Amino acid sequence: MAKVIAVLGSTGGQGGGLCRAILADPGGGFSCRAITRDPSKDKAKALAAAGAEVVAADLDDVESLKKAFAGAHGVFGVTNFWEHFSAEKEKQQAKNIADAAKAAGVKHVVWSTLEDTRQWMKPDDTRMPMLQGSYRVPHFDAKDEANAFFAGVPTTFLRTTFYWDNLYMFGLAPKKGEDGKYSWAFPLGNAKMAGIAVEDIGKSAYGILKAGDQYVGKTVGIMGEALTVEEMGQKLEKGLGIGPVVYNAVDANTYRSWGFPGADEMGNMFQVYRDFEGPFLANRSVATAKQLNPQLQDFSTWLAANKSKVPV
Ligand SMILES: NC(=O)c1ccc[n+]([C@@H]2O[C@H](COP(=O)([O-])OP(=O)(O)OC[C@H]3O[C@@H](n4cnc5c(N)ncnc54)[C@H](OP(=O)(O)O)[C@@H]3O)[C@@H](O)[C@H]2O)c1
Repeated sequence: MAKVIAVLGSTGGQGGGLCRAILADPGGGFSCRAITRDPSKDKAKALAAAGAEVVAADLDDVESLKKAFAGAHGVFGVTNFWEHFSAEKEKQQAKNIADAAKAAGVKHVVWSTLEDTRQWMKPDDTRMPMLQGSYRVPHFDAKDEANAFFAGVPTTFLRTTFYWDNLYMFGLAPKKGEDGKYSWAFPLGNAKMAGIAVEDIGKSAYGILKAGDQYVGKTVGIMGEALTVEEMGQKLEKGLGIGPVVYNAVDANTYRSWGFPGADEMGNMFQVYRDFEGPFLANRSVATAKQLNPQLQDFSTWLAANKSKVPV
């Protein structure tokens, strides 16, 4: 009988990628239990039509998670910071995942996490503001703090990174100016930023679950390719056939001051990618990602497959 993987975020990027990877491999020995708050939504219906078992549960309701995890072999845990922007809520949701996984006695959890950026800055470092009281990058720091909740649960800590899909999902693609030139602005200097296709995060999680015990207790960092913004711009010019893409390497304080929701959070995040490029890249490996997921895409491959979505 196929081993059930209960997948949080199944209607989203990371969990959706895992569900599709399981469903694309019917002989692989696993089945997908897709968790959503709303089984009637189109993305849930599409998963059901493709063969997933769709069940309702809410990250804010630990009892609903216990029911959703019952009888499952594995759990994919992901929280969505961007729905509420609260580090404390994200930690509580992660605790609910860990507590429910423990109660259900699952054999393997893959927890989608990031590192605590405060390890790279002393508390009195003034290069970037503290946010939400005690965090530098709340959605990174909270996920790492939440790792501790998984003590006693057989867990793999999957360190993800910036999705190239943000170009269409978060409106981060270059914009065309009145002069016909494209431009975009990031406080990334000339640093190489680790990127990945979000679909490949789910596929890597599937690789971990298939490999099983050897990954329990391990931290696995993945990326598809590390590129500077200039390099990404050049690849966009080529891949999309657009005119020059001008990169404005703005100061992080300028970026934070722009005031859109999450500007301070994203300003701090990009500054971490820039200022701590070395340790951040050292925590992630293309080779490991490829071993887990031989179909791993680099930026150009991702772009060729997704160019119709990138709004330029
Ligand atoms: N964007 C990036 O570059 C990036 C990089 C690394 C890490 N991340 C992290 O990725 C996370 C988001 O993952 P994603 O991009 O895969 O998400 P997404 O595509 O935005 O979708 C969000 C998913 O979370 C589920 N969800 C949200 N709140 C829930 C709740 N209370 N109960 C149950 N399910 C809930 C949604 O399910 P329903 O709505 O169907 O219930 C949906 O499936 C964030 O925490 C972010 O920090 C993002």
